[in-house]
Amino acid sequence: MSCPLSPFQVEATCGPARAGRFETTRGPVLTPAFMPVGTQGTVKGITPAQLAEIGPQVILGNTYHLGLRPGDELVRDLGGLHAFMAWPGPILTDSGGFQVFSLSSLRKIKEEGVTFQSHIDGSTHFLSPERSMEIQRNLGSDIVMALDECPPGRMERPALETSMARTTRWLQRCRAFPLGERQGLFAINQGGVHMDLRTRHLHEILDLDARTPFQGFAVGGLSVGEPKDEMNALLSEFTPTLPADRPRYLMGVGTPEDLLFGIAHGVDLFDCVLPTREARHGTLLTSRGRVKIKNARHRTSSLPLDPDCNCYACRTFTRAYLHHLFRAGEMLASTLNSIHNLSYTVGLTRAARRALLENRFPDFARRTIDQWNTEEP
Ligand code: GUN
Ligand code: ZN
Repeated sequence: MSCPLSPFQVEATCGPARAGRFETTRGPVLTPAFMPVGTQGTVKGITPAQLAEIGPQVILGNTYHLGLRPGDELVRDLGGLHAFMAWPGPILTDSGGFQVFSLSSLRKIKEEGVTFQSHIDGSTHFLSPERSMEIQRNLGSDIVMALDECPPGRMERPALETSMARTTRWLQRCRAFPLGERQGLFAINQGGVHMDLRTRHLHEILDLDARTPFQGFAVGGLSVGEPKDEMNALLSEFTPTLPADRPRYLMGVGTPEDLLFGIAHGVDLFDCVLPTREARHGTLLTSRGRVKIKNARHRTSSLPLDPDCNCYACRTFTRAYLHHLFRAGEMLASTLNSIHNLSYTVGLTRAARRALLENRFPDFARRTIDQWNTEEP
C-alpha cells in the first residue's frame, strides 16, 4: 500500500486544541497550519521566493485545474509539480471532487466517476477515483486527497446519505490505487451539518483505516452555503471525535475567525482562497481587523498597513502607497496585498501554535479577537 502512516505527533494540547508535527519527505509540517492555495501551480501574484519568506508549512495545488491544463503527464515529464513551480516544500493536492462540482458544467455523476465539461473550453472529461489518484501521482504531491462528492450545504438528508455512501466506495477505490512512495492519502469525511451522518461516515472511513491507515482525515462539505452557526456547532462536536493520532484538515475554511474557532476545536490544517482573493479586492486582514485599502482615509497615511506585521509590504510601504497602487490598478497592489494577507494568516496559525506550546492559548485567542474589534488606526 502506498499510504504509510506518516508519523504525526501531538506536541501540546489545550482542551481539544493541539499543536503537532507531521513528517513528509519534503520536511516537517508544524501545526496548526494554514496552507496557501496555489490552484494552477502558483499562489496567485506571488513568486516562490516571496512565498518562502512568508513561510507556509505546506501549500495546496488542484488536480482539477492542473489535470486540465497543462495536463498531469506534462507536469510529470517536467519533473513533477515541485520542480515545475519551483516550490521545494510540501504540497497537498485536492482531488478535484469539490472543483468538479463548483466549476464545471453539465456534470453527470455515475458510480464509475463524473463526466463533466471543462470550465476552460467546454471539452468533455471524466474524473474517477482512479483518474484522480493518477493525476495526483503524476503531479507528485506529498499529500493526496481522496476523490469525494461534495454536496451543497442545503442538500436534504436522503440525497446526502446516497452521496456519502458513494464517497465511501470511492474512498475504497482511491486506497486501492498505487500512489508514489513519498505520497500519503487523506480520507475526506462528509455528512453536512448532521452529527449523526458525520459519525456514520467516519465509522465507514475508520473501517477502511483499520486495514490500511490513512495519513490524515479531512472534514469536507463545510462552508458551502450552510449557516455559520450550524457549521460551528458541527465542528465543535465532531472534530474532537476524529482520531487524535492523525492530522485533521478542515477544507476550504477560511476567515481569521474560522481559523481560531477551528484551532480551538482541534483542527490542525486549513486552506482557503480567502486571504489571496480578498487581497486582490483590496481587503486586508490585520491585527486590528479588516482594512479596505481603497478607502479615502488611507490616501495620505504614512502609517504601515499593520504595525504588528513584519511582512515585506508592512516593513517597506505606507498605507498611502498601497492605497495609490490599488486605486491605480497596478499589478503590484495584488502582489503586496497578497504577501500581507498570507503573512497575516500563516502568522495567525503560527502564533496559535506558539501559544499552545507555551500553554497560553485561551489568553492568546481572547486577546486576538479583542484586538480585531479595536478601532483600526
Ligand atoms: N474543498 C472545500 N471543501 C471540499 C470538499 O468537501 N471536498 C474536497 N475535495 N475539497 C474541498
Ligand atoms: Zn504585513
